[in-house]
Amino acid sequence: MDTAVVIGVGPLAGLGGALCQRFAAMGLHVFAGGRTKAQVESVAQSIRDAGGEATAVVADATDEASVAALFDAAGDGLAVAIYNAGNNQPGRVIDMDADYFESAWRVCCFGGFLFGREAVRRFLPKGGGTLLFTGASASMRGRANFGAFSAAKGGLRNLAQAMAKEYGPEGVHVGHVVVDGAIGGEKIMRGFPQYAEKLGEQGMISLEGIADGFAYLHNQPHRAWTFEIDLRTSVERW
Ligand SMILES: NC(=O)c1ccc[n+]([C@@H]2O[C@H](COP(=O)([O-])OP(=O)(O)OC[C@H]3O[C@@H](n4cnc5c(N)ncnc54)[C@H](OP(=O)(O)O)[C@@H]3O)[C@@H](O)[C@H]2O)c1
Repeated sequence: MDTAVVIGVGPLAGLGGALCQRFAAMGLHVFAGGRTKAQVESVAQSIRDAGGEATAVVADATDEASVAALFDAAGDGLAVAIYNAGNNQPGRVIDMDADYFESAWRVCCFGGFLFGREAVRRFLPKGGGTLLFTGASASMRGRANFGAFSAAKGGLRNLAQAMAKEYGPEGVHVGHVVVDGAIGGEKIMRGFPQYAEKLGEQGMISLEGIADGFAYLHNQPHRAWTFEIDLRTSVERW
C-alpha cells in the first residue's frame, strides 16, 4: 500500500488534519506527524473510523532524528510527503529577540529542509514521489509586523523551488501551495473568534478546497506538472 507522511498535524478541523483525511480517502496509508499525541491520534482514529488506514506518530518537525523516524515508520511505500508545520506569530522586528526569530525559522523553514531532504532520500531509489509544502501570504511578500514569519516562509518557498528543479528530472514532483488568507479551521475559529466573525464564513478559505489543491498537484501527470498554486477566497483583497 502506498503511504503518505504529513507533518504539522494538529486538530481535526485544521489543515494538517484535512490533508491526512484527504490522502487517506485517496487510498493511501497516512502517517500523521505532530507534536501533540492526543491530536495526531484523534486524526488517525477519525480516518480508521471512516474505513481508511492511518498511524499517528509524535514528531517534531525541527528535530532531525524525529523526522527520520517518522519516515522510517512510513516504510517503503512512500508516495506522498507533505510539510504543513507552521506558526504565525506577529511581532515588530525592533521588539523581537533573537530566539523568537530563530524559532520561526526553525519551524517554517529549517524543518522543511529536514523533511524535504528525508523525503527525497527515500523517493529517489524508487523513481520518484510527491513532496508538497504549505505556504502562506507571507511566502510571497513581507508585511509589517510579520518579519520573522515572512522571512521563514519565503525561505521555505525558495527551498521548495530549488528542490523542484533539482529533483524533478528524477521523478520527484515538488509543489508549493500558497494559502493566501485565513483558513476556516480551528486555529482561526477557536483561537481568534472575533477575527473569524469579522471575516465571516465567506472570508475564510475552506479546508476542503485547500485539500483539493494538494490532491490536484499529486495527481498531475509527469508531462504537466505545476510547481505552485495559490488559493484565496473570492472576497480576499490581494
Ligand atoms: N491558519 C491559517 O489561517 C493559515 C493561513 C495561511 C497559511 N497557513 C499555513 O497552514 C499551515 C497550518 O495550517 P493550520 O493553521 O490549519 O494548522 P493545523 O494544520 O491545524 O496545525 C498545524 C500544526 O502544526 C503543529 N506544529 C507546529 N510546530 C510543529 C513542529 N515543530 N513539529 C510538528 N508539528 C508542529 C502544531 O501542533 P502542535 O502545536 O500541537 O505541535 C499545529 O497544530 C501552516 O503551514 C501555516 O503557515 C495557515
